[in-house]
Amino acid sequence: MKKIWFDFERFGMFIHWGVYAGAYGNEWIKSDNKLTDVQYQRYVDNFEPDLFAPDEWAEIAQNAGMKYVVFTAKHHDGFCMFDSACTDYNSMKYYGRDFLREILEAFRKRNFKVGVYYSLPDWHHPNYMIDARHPLRDFPEERDTLVYTRYLHEQVRELMSNYGKIDMLWFDGSYPETKFIWHSEELREKILELQPEIIIARLPGCSDFTTPEQCIPTEGVRDEKSVLLRWEGCQVINGQWGYSTLNNHWWTPRQLVEMLVKHVSRGGNMLLNVPPTGRGAVDGRTAGILKEVGSWMRLHERAIKHCTKAPDEFPEPENCRYTYNPETQRLYLFCFAWSQKEILLKNLDGKVQYVRFLHDHSEIPNLFHDEKNVNTLRIPAGVLKLNLPTEPPDVLLPVVELILKK
Ligand code: GLC
Repeated sequence: MKKIWFDFERFGMFIHWGVYAGAYGNEWIKSDNKLTDVQYQRYVDNFEPDLFAPDEWAEIAQNAGMKYVVFTAKHHDGFCMFDSACTDYNSMKYYGRDFLREILEAFRKRNFKVGVYYSLPDWHHPNYMIDARHPLRDFPEERDTLVYTRYLHEQVRELMSNYGKIDMLWFDGSYPETKFIWHSEELREKILELQPEIIIARLPGCSDFTTPEQCIPTEGVRDEKSVLLRWEGCQVINGQWGYSTLNNHWWTPRQLVEMLVKHVSRGGNMLLNVPPTGRGAVDGRTAGILKEVGSWMRLHERAIKHCTKAPDEFPEPENCRYTYNPETQRLYLFCFAWSQKEILLKNLDGKVQYVRFLHDHSEIPNLFHDEKNVNTLRIPAGVLKLNLPTEPPDVLLPVVELILKK
């Protein structure tokens, strides 16, 4: 598998933002409350993003150490946050703005790779099938779904043609029980013709990577021969995708950093969702959390960016994870718990040139089994012993950098 940006830039921002942002609910409200188009229209009519400033979002993302962005151009409600000739149900018609364009421009200015999220289901289109999650599920009717498939293909063509280089296309909503005909292969071909370097997620049968949601597979995502595949976990900050005051299960900055490490240490990326408010701003609590994550990232980016799972010959000690940069041959040890003065690292005796904390480059004394040194005789052969201070350093998550001998 040829390496691409995705394999190096491990941390991205997912943005769920649409007319549902101000609703008493989330992006599912139309389905949850079985709303008709007419009932849902109040969210379209009352959407007034007076604080919309995508450059602020991009700045927050950049300061958090994120390197790419994925924005919901259209969610399941079918409202397009971009200009589309296929429907009037779009932000240009209603508010005179192509939000997608403004967002992509703001992030590109800061050298982000950019991704577009596009929902396969569409609860507004009259020809999308009335499946088990559809707001009108109590009123089933036959629909000419091929008309919708054509609409979807045409909108994807617009997105792939009118917005410059798109690095990632993130489809969503192909629920296993919804046996919709997406014409995936044909769609994929069309996309690649327009955007030859793009990578695609969640297009049934045609995806380039796997996207576990709100979970982190302990061993990463692997094929049947146990080879690691390209993957990206998508995570929420406070239990919601779209902005909502109904759920307040906030992750702490420390938990988020730990989550990021759990992804990278298994060769994956973390796409962390940020839900701007109905006014178009990132709320203070989210911004504060991301700022703290960013302070950690500033000192530890080297242990995340360009890193991946460590070689199998180095088993992780208890309560720790490794990441590894194959180019620089540096191994990073993340200590999730701090309850002992020493950590034993298997198979590293004789292989390490220098050991230090990453945040301040202070040296960490280390010892290995040496027949001539009585002080080291109790260290098992092959093991490198790190002598740690009693108190952990004052960072969210301590990281030890092991520079291997070349
Ligand atoms: C879930 C949510 C959906 C969200 C998606 C992101 O499927 O239901 O609203 O967009 O996760 O991965």
